[in-house]
Amino acid sequence: MNLRAEVAGCLVFAALLAGPAAAQPAGANYDEAKVPNYLLPGLLKLKNGEPVKDAATWNRRRRQEVLALFQEHVYGRSPGRPRHMRFELTSLEKQALGGKAVRKEVTVRFSDKPDAPAMHLLIYLPAGAARPVPVFLGLNFGGNHAVNADPGIRLGEVWTRGEAGKPGVKRPATVESRGSASGRWQVEKVLEKGYGLATGYYCDIEPDFDGGLPYSVRSLFLRAGRKAPEADEWGAIGAWAWGLSRALDYLETDRDVDAGKVAVMGHSRLGKTALWAAAQDTRFAMVISNDSGEGGAALSRRRFGETIRDLNTRFPHWFCLNYRKYNDREDEAPFDQHMLIALAAPRPVYVASAQEDLWADPRGEFLAAVNAGPVFELLGKQGLGTDQMPPVHQPIMNSVGYHIRAGKHDVTAYDWDQFLAFADKHLKGR
Ligand code: GCU
Repeated sequence: MNLRAEVAGCLVFAALLAGPAAAQPAGANYDEAKVPNYLLPGLLKLKNGEPVKDAATWNRRRRQEVLALFQEHVYGRSPGRPRHMRFELTSLEKQALGGKAVRKEVTVRFSDKPDAPAMHLLIYLPAGAARPVPVFLGLNFGGNHAVNADPGIRLGEVWTRGEAGKPGVKRPATVESRGSASGRWQVEKVLEKGYGLATGYYCDIEPDFDGGLPYSVRSLFLRAGRKAPEADEWGAIGAWAWGLSRALDYLETDRDVDAGKVAVMGHSRLGKTALWAAAQDTRFAMVISNDSGEGGAALSRRRFGETIRDLNTRFPHWFCLNYRKYNDREDEAPFDQHMLIALAAPRPVYVASAQEDLWADPRGEFLAAVNAGPVFELLGKQGLGTDQMPPVHQPIMNSVGYHIRAGKHDVTAYDWDQFLAFADKHLKGR
């Protein structure tokens, strides 16, 4: 990409965004003029320097090299499926949501140990579907009962995130919090379009604070004598992504679900998680990143908004320890986030940004999607097809899709309308 053209484009963009910048965390760079020039690591070159000229070389060799970079330096290596996993159907309601949905609740037990973490899945499927349906799968922040006001959803326990270095605590979920995140989930819209929705509470897999390891699935896999994972082993994002794969293991056993058409979706830290889940687990047929920002869809080298140091300082439990080597040294990283998006290829990937979400660097999210394009093209698909950021509310829906909407860091009905249109185009009728 022509960096000078890029800088000029950024200035226009900065002017457009100047207003809302004040609402973002202080101390970060929100000035496009201060984004340094950068050179992204090449995707289509093998470690030994040879060019990647065909799909076979990407699939057999380069893809593995790129995946290994993220395993070693960013999210850490994760184990496979546990040997003693069990699925328990704990509730089934065929007349949920006024007859519009079948609601299932399934507990995924990761281990035989009675006090081991277990993930509770909430699944809505359109009532009366004639055949197995494609499904959106994503982790939620507030507990399954927060996803919809449906009084039949199990009220579980929720974790606080802890404050000022203090660990989080677990509490029973309150009746009042039922449906509190329903704006983010748009269950009815999803069902109307003929899709199912499956979700689990991310803290079932690992609660979200530094020191949550004893309550995490990660503790089930510590090698004898070790109190913490090694520097290249999984952090919490790796654990959450692993949980998504375990949810897919369940969905593969559910005859009402078309498990070959599962779109993994996530917002913010869980958008980082969705991208990483899809990169590792090619059973996911599509991936959607919503406002995932630094360590997700956004290019780290751009140094706009959040940085690698910010992530490692504020959320020391999210990434593998090796990631800290790149605090203030983004340019030395053998990876950048366009390579993570490329790991989805040739499966469709959608990146969504919000105009006021400067901390997540919307332009950096867009440019990562742009720069993943050559891999999609090598595999016979279409990248974004432009390096000009589209105006708000003008989605692009090639195999790589992108939109920026007005407003703040969130998931809205507008976002879901685009995810559904993108899935209609690339997943449903395939
Ligand atoms: C913080 C964090 C981001 C993250 C976001 C979220 O803002 O710095 O990296 O994406 O939280 O998950 O809500």
